[in-house]
Amino acid sequence: MAEKVSALPETENTSLSNIWDLRSWLARVEQLGELKHVSGAHWDLELGGISEINNRQRGPCLLFDDIVDYPSGYRVVTGTTGSPVRLAATLGFPSYPSSAELVEALRGKPQQWEALSVEFPPQYVEDGPVLENVIAGKEINLLDFPVPKWHEKDGGRYIGTGSVVVTKDLDSEWINLGAYRMMVHDKRTCALNMVAGKHGRQQIDRYFSAGKPFPVVVSLGHHPLLFLFAGLEVKYGLSEYNYVGGILGEPVQVIKGEVTGLPMPAASELVVEGWCQPGNFKMEGPLGEFHGYYSSSEKGAPVLEVERVYHRNNPILLGTPPARPPHDYSYSKAVMRSALLHEALEKAGVPGVVGCWADEVGGSRMLLVVSIKQGYQGHARQAGLVASQCHVGAYLGRYVIVVDDDIDPSDLQNVMWAVVTRSDPARDIEIITRAWGSRGDPQNVTFDQKVPYNTRAIIDACRAYEYLDVFPPVAEISPQFQEELKKKWKDLLGS
Ligand SMILES: Cc1cc2nc3c(=O)[nH]c(=O)nc-3n(C[C@H](O)[C@H](O)[C@H](O)COP(=O)(O)O)c2cc1C
Repeated sequence: MAEKVSALPETENTSLSNIWDLRSWLARVEQLGELKHVSGAHWDLELGGISEINNRQRGPCLLFDDIVDYPSGYRVVTGTTGSPVRLAATLGFPSYPSSAELVEALRGKPQQWEALSVEFPPQYVEDGPVLENVIAGKEINLLDFPVPKWHEKDGGRYIGTGSVVVTKDLDSEWINLGAYRMMVHDKRTCALNMVAGKHGRQQIDRYFSAGKPFPVVVSLGHHPLLFLFAGLEVKYGLSEYNYVGGILGEPVQVIKGEVTGLPMPAASELVVEGWCQPGNFKMEGPLGEFHGYYSSSEKGAPVLEVERVYHRNNPILLGTPPARPPHDYSYSKAVMRSALLHEALEKAGVPGVVGCWADEVGGSRMLLVVSIKQGYQGHARQAGLVASQCHVGAYLGRYVIVVDDDIDPSDLQNVMWAVVTRSDPARDIEIITRAWGSRGDPQNVTFDQKVPYNTRAIIDACRAYEYLDVFPPVAEISPQFQEELKKKWKDLLGS
């Protein structure tokens, strides 16, 4: 009999510390009317296909149970952070019906969280729900869990999409958390895909250069907040455990893995632990990417040899299948990356930033829009160049568009109107070559390069600073007159 998630009492509880595991998060989201239960879907393509259609339709969070071939209660959840309400619930904010309100609520928050993170290192505890079941050695079978084959062209079954991969630096105590995908090879091994330059990849490279095995624990079901920040650009050397502790206002509780000693979330649904051995690589993929293509053709990835599996009774796997956007996590990444970009620009000393938007059409990475109140000559180029190269914008970007402050950066119709009317292609497009790209770039597949650099265009779609006073006025009625007319002609024009 499937375990049903009970709803929280009818109180407005926005305190994250009371809802710090996936099950209570689900209860909260159900209370908010954004959870649907799905029974009887097949792990082979149905679960992925249903999720893809649902995500594209901006549907609710889906909790799959009674999955074909698996016991009732062994569940998979998708679409966790795909709406302003669910993302706000994840962050512990009050419920916001619109992205604009959520983006506004996020102003200044990343800086506060980072400052608070020093006060909240993870807290080691002896016991927790994840220890309800411990499986060792030969007893392990990763396919005892309902690991989906998400899409028809996938190279295998992916246990890790919404995964949190926990690793440690070789020469320091820095614990990194990254969302890196993981494909099951067989009962006890899976692939761990980490792109060159990512923090986890930098760590594994150091171990392998020293000829040492790389210890890994991976949480595969957890409060979506942990996944959200594992998949975002938190600064080098700062543990996402601390960062999330800063958001929670209390430490994340962790348990030392029996084999590696690495900290796993005490309330995790499912954790695998083991080692990657130097020289042990195996073909992995393909899997669709965040931008909507199968760009990474099959290639060798480090093999994780699993020595322990820990899981709660009736575990829930957190799935975040990528696809042509909008997909499972494009909305949450758009909002969060926009907030991080805004802050990065301010930290870098770029004044007058009015808004930022990492639009979902670019998988929330490849198209960044910055709106500024121009203060001096060169201001727009400064904003665009910094956006393209700061940590949050550096990896696999393509276009940065800088617009004036009368343009809402999240409104692509207006952004493109500014591009076609305020920029001159010969004068206003800066090109940066040999930037941080990856094999995951569809362009790289097409125009194969030995080393996957990529190229960026910064489009300065602001009115030229020296001609601000002579640039033709916009042909539209004034905002005040618009309001007057809307009031007077409410039935015709709406409020
Ligand atoms: C669902 C999801 C899957 C991802 N898969 C990968 C992956 O397979 N390899 C990778 O290098 N980055 C992947 N990323 C991006 C990284 O998680 C992201 O760049 C993050 O900042 C990496 O952590 P780090 O900053 O500690 O390196 C994925 C992100 C998400 C949200």
